[in-house]
Amino acid sequence: MKSLTSLLEDEQIVAVVCNQWGDTGKGKVSDAFAEWADVIARGTGGNNAGHTVVIGGKKYIFHLIPSGILYDSAGKVNLLGNGMVIDLKCLCEELDDLDRLKLPYNNLIISGDAHVIMPHHVSSDKAKNASQKNGGVGSTGRGIGPAYEQKISRRGIMIRDLYDGDCLAEKIRKLGINPDDSISALDPLAKRIKPFVRDTISEVHKYVRQGKRISLEGAQGLLLSIEFGTYPYVTSSDCSINGTASGVGISAAMVDRTFGIVKFPFMTRVGGGPFPTEFGGEESEKYCANEPPHSIITELEEFKIPYAKNGKSIKYDHDHPNIFDLINSEDGFKQGIGVRLKGEEYGATTGRPRRTGWTDLVALKYALGINGPDIILTKADVLSGAEQFKLCEGYNIEGKHTGVFSRDYDVLRKAKPTFKTYKGYGDLSGIEHSKDLPESLAQAVSDLESLGANVRAISTGPDRYQNVLM
Ligand code: GDP
Ligand code: IMO
Ligand code: MG
Repeated sequence: MKSLTSLLEDEQIVAVVCNQWGDTGKGKVSDAFAEWADVIARGTGGNNAGHTVVIGGKKYIFHLIPSGILYDSAGKVNLLGNGMVIDLKCLCEELDDLDRLKLPYNNLIISGDAHVIMPHHVSSDKAKNASQKNGGVGSTGRGIGPAYEQKISRRGIMIRDLYDGDCLAEKIRKLGINPDDSISALDPLAKRIKPFVRDTISEVHKYVRQGKRISLEGAQGLLLSIEFGTYPYVTSSDCSINGTASGVGISAAMVDRTFGIVKFPFMTRVGGGPFPTEFGGEESEKYCANEPPHSIITELEEFKIPYAKNGKSIKYDHDHPNIFDLINSEDGFKQGIGVRLKGEEYGATTGRPRRTGWTDLVALKYALGINGPDIILTKADVLSGAEQFKLCEGYNIEGKHTGVFSRDYDVLRKAKPTFKTYKGYGDLSGIEHSKDLPESLAQAVSDLESLGANVRAISTGPDRYQNVLM
């Protein structure tokens, strides 16, 4: 039982961000930090995020509401910041889910400055960006890009506009949309969230002055950032520490410690775009982009792994021998499916199979340059029992070796990773102290630290307390 809160000492403001392509376990870490924090705040993205929290085997997935909401009854504030784009229908559905689970949200606050995702943003995103075929971005289809486009072009509708009828009608009319239909659809949703709407920037400044502990919950990942990611295969916000901080009304310089979450020793990407270390390379990329999509069910059936379906949840033996055969296969494509099944790597938002590959230290070193040195490794347990594992130490680009990451699409597409191979390791579940880590894993951690990273903890399972502190 190791709580990640012991990583937090004299800090007042901390942040949890992802140093890869999202889905690294920010939800788990943010929930853990919420025990320490007075305020848990999200600043970027919208319901493109899917953050999973597991407590005593019970699983919660949050899209807009911060993972700290499970601490609402302890009086902790959960905040949706000015940098977010909010789909009111999705937000109300999340509130309904909380009601059903009898989880309170009395201390939820929503920025009046956040932008509204309108129904036409969703339809245009689905039509233009959601496909991954033929080089498409493969967005989550939630209207994120179009809503940010409108924000940047100064035509956006803010949450606070919902409560000013004339202004709202005028803004909607300027978008070429019939205001009556839109307003009648938005009105009941706007009324429902009204009690939570605040000037959150001023609230945050007040919390800072009062010395309250604030935990920022990043969304997406550094390599998906509009500023730093693999453009154009990115999301539409800056999900680095910079955007995460400005999205709640402060500067990154005010954050005392940023924790970059890193999947290790494998990583994932969902959606299109370059992924140099992908198992099975182009074959896997094409397969994951296929429509109708391959899903957890089609993969379990294809590889003859028994499963039971209970509502939305699917139960199967993650240590089934067929999964190990796939993971240990010489065939990269099959290996990728094996790691996906072992780690249950299917999108928390869209259910799409996540593309899998070895952890890329070239990309990680780049991320450290922006988000800083402190990192938490997650999902190390997924590779327990594999015969070997690898880390990407460099790229070979047209015969030249480099250790420097490039955002240039054409360069990254040509990068052939060079790997260091390590012996596999066994079960991590009983490990309490870093000195008891298997030798090969400890060596890999030390190789990673030689890049300038400071590994603060290793998460060894989805549950709140499954961690080894370093
Ligand atoms: P997020 O978007 O960064 O919050 O991550 P997601 O929730 O989309 O995906 C992470 C998945 O990994 C979730 O299903 C978590 O419950 C799970 N998870 C987090 N940390 C660990 C870990 O250390 N080991 C294992 N096996 N699962 C983990
Ligand atoms: P969390 O917070 C993983 C990806 C999409 C697509 C690209 C653009 O759970 O880590 P968008 O809908 O944002 O316009 O899609 O970004 N993407 C994510 N991938 N985790 C996420 O969030 C993501 N949010 C967006 O798959 O490739
Ligand atoms: Mg996620």
